Amino acid sequence: MLDSTPQGFLTIDRFADGTDLWLLATGTGLAPFVSILRDPATWQRFERIVAVHCVRESSELAYRDALEPAADHPLFEDRRAGFTYLPVVTQEPGFVGLRDRIPALLASGALEAAAGLSLDPARSRFMICGGPAMVEDTHRQLMRMGYRLSRLRAPAHIALENGW
Ligand SMILES: NC(=O)c1ccc[n+]([C@@H]2O[C@H](COP(=O)([O-])OP(=O)(O)OC[C@H]3O[C@@H](n4cnc5c(N)ncnc54)[C@H](OP(=O)(O)O)[C@@H]3O)[C@@H](O)[C@H]2O)c1
Repeated sequence: MLDSTPQGFLTIDRFADGTDLWLLATGTGLAPFVSILRDPATWQRFERIVAVHCVRESSELAYRDALEPAADHPLFEDRRAGFTYLPVVTQEPGFVGLRDRIPALLASGALEAAAGLSLDPARSRFMICGGPAMVEDTHRQLMRMGYRLSRLRAPAHIALENGW
């Protein structure tokens, strides 16, 4: 059961600008992003939204049914334009699709290719939520690529939260 009103620090208010929102989650770290996707303000604020959910096995892709492009689901109502869902499965040899961890997918350009959307400091904003090691590694990778943590008095590109 998830509230449709995002609360706390991991909200789109952390960003002063940008047009593309990248939601990067592992495991149950997807939960705050589902609330963010339920909020009409998110869809008014960003032109493109990419939700990346990385899990060990495809059975852990919670909300896949709602997030798949063909889904006719109340999560979206009529707000699907500009949305891309990218499931990532790391421990299932037969999985067809993205299979590396999120930092590696960022470094190789595979996420951009899969989303059909280039990363650009002027446009791209990132929210990261998952296990502490994933949050740290993803943050470091984005910093290597020239992105900075968004702070209340100095809005920038990245907002993050440890999922557990
Ligand atoms: N889910 C399970 O089947 C399972 C089984 C045994 C124990 N556990 C324990 O339960 C807890 C939660 O497990 P979980 O599967 O929900 O979460 P998790 O261990 O964080 O794994 C979820 C996803 O995050 C990836 N990941 C892990 N560390 C990462 C990092 N530093 N950078 C980027 N991506 C990273 C994993 O890739 P990789 O597959 O490459 O690690 C996996 O795709 C953990 O302590 C885990 O050790 C889970």
